[in-house]
Amino acid sequence: MILEGKLNIQNIRKIGVAGGGIMGSGIAQTLAQYGYKVVVTDIDEKYLENTRRIININQKTMIDEGLLTAELAEETLKNISYSTDKSVFRDADMIVEAIIEKIEIKQDFWQEVEGIAGDNCIFATNTSGLSINSICSKVLNKKRFIGMHWWNPSHIIPLIELIKAEDTSNETVAVLEELVAAIGKESVVVLKDVSGFIGNRIQFAVYREALKIVEEGIATVEDVDKAMKYGPGFRYPVLGPFETADLGGLDTFYYISSYLFSELSAEKEPTRLQRELMEENNLGVKTGKGWYDYSNGKGEEAMAKRDKNFYKMLKNIK
Ligand SMILES: NC(=O)c1ccc[n+]([C@@H]2O[C@H](COP(=O)([O-])OP(=O)(O)OC[C@H]3O[C@@H](n4cnc5c(N)ncnc54)[C@H](O)[C@@H]3O)[C@@H](O)[C@H]2O)c1
Repeated sequence: MILEGKLNIQNIRKIGVAGGGIMGSGIAQTLAQYGYKVVVTDIDEKYLENTRRIININQKTMIDEGLLTAELAEETLKNISYSTDKSVFRDADMIVEAIIEKIEIKQDFWQEVEGIAGDNCIFATNTSGLSINSICSKVLNKKRFIGMHWWNPSHIIPLIELIKAEDTSNETVAVLEELVAAIGKESVVVLKDVSGFIGNRIQFAVYREALKIVEEGIATVEDVDKAMKYGPGFRYPVLGPFETADLGGLDTFYYISSYLFSELSAEKEPTRLQRELMEENNLGVKTGKGWYDYSNGKGEEAMAKRDKNFYKMLKNIK
C-alpha cells in the first residue's frame, strides 16, 4: 500500500510511458523535456523505432517554430530510454499507460505492472473514454490509480484531464495536478468516471449539432466549419461557455435556451452521414477522403497547417 507522505511530486523522478504510439511519443517527449527520466516501453522494437522517429519530427518542428532550443532538444533525448521489457518499471515513480484502447488488454497490463512496480508508484491511464474503474479492476491498490487524458498532439495541446475513479485518493489527484503544472500544461479534475470526461462531451455535443445542421440542409460542411472557426471558436480560447454566458447576460442566455434547446440534436446514435462515410471507407486524412478531399498530398498539407497554427496558438498562450 502507499505509504503516507511518500506520495508527492518531489518523489517523482522516473516515469514509465507504456505504448510509444501517437500519444505515448508526445507524452514521453513532454515529460523528458521538463527533466523527468522517462522510459518508454512497447511490445516490439519496431514500434520504439517509430517513437524515436515521431519525437525527432516533433522536436524539429518545435525548433523551427522557436518553441525549443537545439540544446534542450538534445537534453530531452538524453532523458528518454526505451525497452520492450516491462521490468524497467521496477523503479518508476509513476507510469502513464498509452497502449491500445482495448479494455481486456489494459486490465491485464495493469495487473502485470502492479506485480513489477513499487508500492508508491502512481498508475495513470491515458484512455480516451473507457471506464477508469473498469481499467483498474484487477489492480489491488486502486488509491494510486487515475485517468490522465492528454489531448492529441500531446506535446502541443495544453489540457490534461485528470479523472478520479471510485477509489482514487485525493493525494494521487493532488500529485498529478502538481505534475501537470510542472510540465507547463493545464489540468482539470473530472470528479466522476463518466464517458467522454469533459472535453469530449463538449466536442461531441458540437459534432452532433454540426451533423444535424448539415443533414437537415441548413448549411454546408464548409460553412459549418467556417462558422465555428470565426464565431464560437474565436471565443473559446479566451472564454469558456460559462464565462461567455456571464458576459452575454444570463437572462439572454436563459431566453435563448428556452426556445433553442428543444431544436437541438438529441441523436442517440451515430447519424446517417456518419454511417455512409464509414461504409464508403471515407475516414478522413487516413484514407484520403472524409468530409473533404485529402488526396495527392492534401492530407499531409492539412496536418502541417494544423500543427503550424497550433504552435502559433501555443506561443500566444505562453
Ligand atoms: N490518438 C488520439 O487522438 C488519442 C487521444 C487521447 C487518448 N488516446 C488514447 O491513448 C492510447 C494510445 O493511443 P494512440 O493513439 O497513441 O495509439 P497508437 O496505436 O498510436 O499507439 C499504441 C501503442 O501501444 C502499443 N501497445 C499495444 N499493446 C501494448 C502493450 N500491451 N504494452 C505496451 N505497448 C503496447 C502499440 O504497439 C502502439 O505502439 C489509447 O488508449 C487511446 O485511446 C488517443
